[in-house]
Amino acid sequence: MNASTNPIERSFKLAAERCEDLTPLVYRRLFRERPEAETMFRRDGGDLVRGSMLAMTIEAIIDFAGARGGYFRMITCEVSSHDAYGTPRDLFIDFFRIIRDTLREVLADEWSPTINDAWQNLLIDIAAFADVSM
Ligand code: HEM
Repeated sequence: MNASTNPIERSFKLAAERCEDLTPLVYRRLFRERPEAETMFRRDGGDLVRGSMLAMTIEAIIDFAGARGGYFRMITCEVSSHDAYGTPRDLFIDFFRIIRDTLREVLADEWSPTINDAWQNLLIDIAAFADVSM
């Protein structure tokens, strides 16, 4: 692995080596910690929407933390669409923390201080970004 890889991207790569699909782990944690989220998803096609929502969120996180090629702007677009879905702002933002905590669990002793610090800063930056760009 390239040692210079951004710590956020590295955390996703390490997770991919350990876990084929993060989707069930992320949503299990989300619905355990924020049970109000479960009823917000439609029953029909729910798995597809959830899987694609997570995949797109991860793309946006990696772009936000790295190249900032433009995909990260999806975060602010989704703030508005989620207002329409009835997702409260704090819950929307908490999804990023849920992803971080899931990765930390999957990585276990590979969760390094560098990765931890990078995620801590990222969560602060994303909350500020989503809040000021509305
Ligand atoms: C816990 C927080 C969140 C909840 C409860 C939530 C809820 C939802 C719901 C209910 C839908 C489906 C709307 C439909 O029925 O068509 C949806 C779709 C979507 N969400 Fe979220 N959302 C959350 C956080 C996020 C975040 C942080 C992002 C990314 C920045 C995001 C990105 C998307 C995208 C891209 C879709 C469309 C997926 C598709 O149909 O392909 N969501 N979300």
